[in-house]
Amino acid sequence: MSNLGSRKNDHINIVLNEAVEGGVPTFQKYRLPYIALPELDMEKIDLKSKLLDKELSFPFIISSMTGGLERGGTINQNLAIAAQREKVALGLGSMRVIIRYPETLASFQVRHLCPDVPLFANVGIVQLNYGFGLDELEKIVSGVEADGLFLHINHLQEAVQPEGDTNFENLLPKLEKIVSKLSVPIFAKEVGHGIDKKTAQRLKDIGIEYIDVSGTGGCSWAWIEGYRCVDEKISPEENLGYIFRNEGIPTDEALQSCSQVEGLKLIAGGGVRSGLDLAKAITMGAKYGTSAKPFLGPSLESPENVALVIQRYRKELQVAMFSCGAANLKQLQDISCREI
Ligand SMILES: Cc1cc2nc3c(=O)[nH]c(=O)nc-3n(C[C@H](O)[C@H](O)[C@H](O)COP(=O)(O)O)c2cc1C
Repeated sequence: MSNLGSRKNDHINIVLNEAVEGGVPTFQKYRLPYIALPELDMEKIDLKSKLLDKELSFPFIISSMTGGLERGGTINQNLAIAAQREKVALGLGSMRVIIRYPETLASFQVRHLCPDVPLFANVGIVQLNYGFGLDELEKIVSGVEADGLFLHINHLQEAVQPEGDTNFENLLPKLEKIVSKLSVPIFAKEVGHGIDKKTAQRLKDIGIEYIDVSGTGGCSWAWIEGYRCVDEKISPEENLGYIFRNEGIPTDEALQSCSQVEGLKLIAGGGVRSGLDLAKAITMGAKYGTSAKPFLGPSLESPENVALVIQRYRKELQVAMFSCGAANLKQLQDISCREI
């Protein structure tokens, strides 16, 4: 197995078996304004949404996780079957590995299993400083017939790894040259430490329209990498990833500040653990929600178990909207969450 493959394997084991969620649970400190008599038929509440001209049963994307190894293939296939059945979008994990090891591409190729929903390729923005350009990104996108490309921004995660790629100089000018040339739209995302308003504005200025803020409150990638980098000479409390585990911008704060940037379509990621969290995120400016960790275990089991998680999120969103009298997503967006 390649180094990248064995790292991905470690990630899966760590996320399944260790405490990896940093920060504080973002959405628990808010409540939706409760309407005692909503005068709505709950079954008629309209949750439907569109992403890149494709219909979604509710505004949800399964967040990028994996690929490039055997278990990655199983995970992506189970996610794809469930995404198609339940009509939600799907992000694949980082595909950097396919450039060096083309034989790993098959583990990402799930388009035939989810022909009708948005499917996203994924790679780290920092790779633009490590030999990747338009050709490599186009190869990644076309290899899986993706509708879009998630570029992840993850300097804290890279900094914690001994083998991390930490040259983040001058990435925006490089990205600017590519954004309009790539055959599909580029979406920017963090991996659990959040996107600030200034970065969101700069991304918008170079032509990025969609941003997944992926803030703190869910998986902390500094912490996850920290588990991989155990050094017997230092105490667990002095582990670099452990020290930085809670750093970043909470998802609520990232949404509220990035929503001040005109024209962006925000995706709420990082600690979105229910449809109720998603509803609150929508009142904070998100157009879509996304989640990774709750899908990992079920994706190793079966498409049915993945579908159960999706159905749970959808039902919770519906009940949340019923509780605050929102008949559709537009009405939910116009509601303000209250801090408890
Ligand atoms: C097992 C696992 C692997 C991940 N791999 C990637 C990846 O390859 N690329 C990426 O952009 N994000 C990756 N992420 C980050 C997620 O997409 C997401 O941004 C982050 O975990 C926060 O969401 P959560 O709190 O719902 O897990 C991964 C997450 C998990 C749980």
